[in-house]
Amino acid sequence: MPLFTRKRMSIRSSIAQDDRIDFGVAPTSVQRIESPVTTKAYLMCAFAAFAGMLFGYDSGYISSVLAMNEFKIEYGHEVPISEDRTGFSYFTWEKSLIVSILSAGTFFGALISGALADWFGRRTTIIAGCLVFMVGVIIQVSATVIPALVVGRLIAGFGVGFVSAINILYMSEVAPRKVRGAIVSCYQFAITIGIMLASCVGYATHKRTDTGAFRIPIAVQFLWALILAGGLCLLPESPRYYVKKGRLDLAIRALSRVRGQSMDSDWLQDELAEIQANYEYEQQVGEVGWLGCFSGGITNRNSNIRKVFIGTGLQMFQQFTGINFIFYYNTTFFKQVGLNNAFLIALITTIVNVCSTPVSFYTIERYGRRPLLIYGAIAMAVCEFIIAAVWTADASSSTANYVLIVFVCFYIFFFASTWGPAAWVVIGEIFQLPIRAKGVALSTASNWFWNCIIGIIVPYIVDENHGNLGGRVFFVWGSTCAACAVFAWLFVPETKGLTLEQVDKMMEEVSAIRSSQWRVHDTFVHEMGAKDSVREDTSSSIQRQHVQPKSSYL
Ligand code: BGC
Repeated sequence: MPLFTRKRMSIRSSIAQDDRIDFGVAPTSVQRIESPVTTKAYLMCAFAAFAGMLFGYDSGYISSVLAMNEFKIEYGHEVPISEDRTGFSYFTWEKSLIVSILSAGTFFGALISGALADWFGRRTTIIAGCLVFMVGVIIQVSATVIPALVVGRLIAGFGVGFVSAINILYMSEVAPRKVRGAIVSCYQFAITIGIMLASCVGYATHKRTDTGAFRIPIAVQFLWALILAGGLCLLPESPRYYVKKGRLDLAIRALSRVRGQSMDSDWLQDELAEIQANYEYEQQVGEVGWLGCFSGGITNRNSNIRKVFIGTGLQMFQQFTGINFIFYYNTTFFKQVGLNNAFLIALITTIVNVCSTPVSFYTIERYGRRPLLIYGAIAMAVCEFIIAAVWTADASSSTANYVLIVFVCFYIFFFASTWGPAAWVVIGEIFQLPIRAKGVALSTASNWFWNCIIGIIVPYIVDENHGNLGGRVFFVWGSTCAACAVFAWLFVPETKGLTLEQVDKMMEEVSAIRSSQWRVHDTFVHEMGAKDSVREDTSSSIQRQHVQPKSSYL
């Protein structure tokens, strides 16, 4: 049997095992809405996840840098040695400003990036984000006063905003549906590696007695932006963006690269027809601007505003898990509660974060998004209540410190294997094409907005001279985690194993609570009767462009 036929048969049999296709209703057409994919194509999708490194490193380096003696001497004000043994310290408002300004920049960057991604393309917007980020890094490295540092972090944050929002969009649009969750989880994995590397670099330089102690960790991030921008120049644009722009010739070319198939393949033609038909179906409602993202009524389960509510709510609750209390302030917090080796313990928490994330590559596709979000939140809440209870009973004992470290690690494990990746995966999947870029941007902006608010308020509720909550702050995070579970159960639909177009249909037909039982029963092509016209369009544009052999455009 020829190899090609054998491959096709195995692809068909794997599709036949697909538990979300209702074979009783439409036996053939629903199977052909996504082309098979080569390893090279998988790797291309996975490369985009590298953007997480930028995001993670940038948000992670500040924790160790803030606790460095050299940083305090450079940017702090004089205090009695009894208050800080370096003789320098910062005001609470300075600490909170330095940490949170990055998220403020990122919030605005993420917001405007949605419009840019629709005008200039997903890839171009991410590359532009890298360039803005580099400018911010240069300013931070050369800053000698707090205002310059703050401006640098604001600009870098702006760039990270582009990257963090549009990268999710790009990956969700190019990744094959069966591994879309896993590929977007790779993005979370890269975030955790970024945070860990930032902690490693901080650990390696914190004992230096010159400004290199903190300038080196700040400067290293330039490299991540360079690698990401360079790599993206070689990757194709999202085919769904070209469909939105009406450029089916470019769409089929991009699709052939991300799937590793030749442009005249039937699979590609069918997949493009489905994307195009779905877009036309959505277009019947008309072109959607920013205001349109809030239309349709919150009780209508497939309305734009409902999806925006789910996306922004999910990202808000991801921040309410309290994870950035750990990653922004862990070194200073561990020092404050009297733990020896605060830098080392902080580094260990970042390693736990990295090692736990790959668990989600499997579980997110095996069990789906909803179970991860619901049970993950419950498990995190339990860990946090245990820490808070032991702390309240006996804050000064070594047992309390031991419990703090162990359960912080368990808590990070549950975050990293559930809410960390799943929140990003779901926002990449729930928005239909006309509002996808803006919806993902709004959701990402919500992440950064709450990230910023938490960055601002945490020092005030934890610091001894203010709220002085200490370990009792975990009562707050435990309660918010319980709210996360309720939110996920009520509102987050199960998107596992569906194409982005099918997710749209599922959300139209069933509620989030019943979404796991929904089965694919029709295609947009069938509904729109559009297949033939799309086929004609693409094949004539391909002919016009004198198709090149596959190897020359990969
Ligand atoms: C969150 C970040 C957090 C990181 C920790 C991400 O998913 O959005 O705010 O710092 O996970 O791994």
